[in-house]
Amino acid sequence: MTPSLPRTILFFMITSCAASAVDDGFNYDEEKVPKFTLPDPLVRADGSKVASVDEWKGKRRGEVLELFRDQMYGRMPGRPEGMRFKVFDEETKALGGKATRRQITVFLTKSETAEASFDILLYIPNGVEEPAPVFFGLNFQGNHAIHDDPGIRLSERWMDKGQGVENHHATAASRGAAASRWPVEMLMDRGYALATVYRGDIDPDYDDAFENGVHSLYPEFQGRGDNFSTVAAWAWGLSRLLDYLETDKRINAKRAAVIGHSRLGKAALWAGAEDERIALVVSNDSGCGGAALSKRHFGETVQRINTSFPHWFCENFKKYNENEIALPFDQHMLIALQAPRPVYVASAEEDQWADPRGEYLSAKGGSQVYALFGREGLVADAWPPVGKPAQEGWIAYHIRAGKHDVTDFDWRGYLDFADKRMP
Ligand code: GCU
Repeated sequence: MTPSLPRTILFFMITSCAASAVDDGFNYDEEKVPKFTLPDPLVRADGSKVASVDEWKGKRRGEVLELFRDQMYGRMPGRPEGMRFKVFDEETKALGGKATRRQITVFLTKSETAEASFDILLYIPNGVEEPAPVFFGLNFQGNHAIHDDPGIRLSERWMDKGQGVENHHATAASRGAAASRWPVEMLMDRGYALATVYRGDIDPDYDDAFENGVHSLYPEFQGRGDNFSTVAAWAWGLSRLLDYLETDKRINAKRAAVIGHSRLGKAALWAGAEDERIALVVSNDSGCGGAALSKRHFGETVQRINTSFPHWFCENFKKYNENEIALPFDQHMLIALQAPRPVYVASAEEDQWADPRGEYLSAKGGSQVYALFGREGLVADAWPPVGKPAQEGWIAYHIRAGKHDVTDFDWRGYLDFADKRMP
C-alpha cells in the first residue's frame, strides 16, 4: 500500500533582507541567502504530481536523473567490454592478523596498459564467516596514503592536489599520510571490509581538456554540452570498483556502501544516483555540487566551482554561473535519487565553504520521496545540534565540531547507521 504524501515540506522559502558586507565576496551570512523556491521532486515535467512508487520508479526518477546528466554531471559510458581483474597481492595476515589484504589491478581494455587501469586496495576482516559488507570509496593521495601498511603498493601515478600544487611522484614518506581519514582497524573490528582506489588512477584532477585518465577511452563523450565530466568519471570508477567487488567471494556486494569526502563525496552521491546496486551512500562534507543546495548561494557558488574546477561538471552546468535561480533542479533531488536506499549526509561546523545548513536542507528536501516508499527520510524537526547525529530515518545527518575533514566521529556515525540500515 502506498502511504499518503506528506503535505508539508513541499517548498522551502528563504527570504532575504539587507545584511552586513561579506569579507571575500562569498556569502556566509544566512540573512543574505537569496529568496528561492526548491523544485518539488515529485512534480513531473508535464506538471502532474507523482503519487505512487511505481510512478516515481517508472516515470519521474528517470526524468530527474536525465536533468542531472544533461545539465550538471554529464553522461557516462557503461561497463567496458574488455575489463579484467588481476589480483597481484594477497596477505592473509595483514594488520597484525586482523585482516586479509588484497590488491587488484582493474584493466579497462584488453591490453594491459597502465593508462587504462586502476589499482584497488581491499582489506577484509578475518574471522568473519559470511561474505563481509563493504565500504568503498576513492582516496585523494594514493592507496599507500590510507595506512602505513608497508605491503601497499606505492602509487606510480602523478599525485596532485588539484589546486595549484605541483604534480609529483609519491615517495615512501607519504605512506599513511591520510591514515586519520581511514580508520581501517575500526572497520575491521566492526566486521566491514574496505576497498579504495586513488582518484588519479581514474581521472587526474586538473583541467586537461579530458585527454587523460578514463576520458581518453571515450572521446565520443566529449565536445558536447553533456560531456563526461571528471566528477562523473570518478563516479563511473566507483561503479567499476563495485564490478570487481561483485566477483570477490569474501565480499557481500549487495551490502556495499559508497563513501566520499568533499569532491569525492560529490562523486559518491552521483555514483549512488547512477548505480542502484549501491546499498548505502555516504556524503562527507561534499558541499557545492554535492549535498549542498546551489540556490542558497552560500559559501562556494556555482560560478566559483565552475571557474576553479572547470573539469568537474559538464559544459551545460556553466549556464548557471551566477544564475542558480534558473536551475530546474537542486541537490535535494540528488538525495531523492538515492531513495529508498539509506543515505548519510555529514557536515562540519567550521566548513562554511561547503554550506552545512544547505547540506541539511537538502537532506530534508529529499525526504518526501522516501515517504512515498513508506520510509521516513531525515527525522529532524530542525537542524540537529553539533555533535548529535540524527539517524532515526533512512536519511541520516550530522554536523560535527571542527573543520573540513573525515574523522573517527564521522566514521562511527556511518558504521552505526550501516549496522542499522544496510540491507
Ligand atoms: C575545494 C572546493 C570544494 C571541494 C574541496 C575538496 O575547497 O572548492 O568544492 O569539495 O576543494 O575537495 O576538498
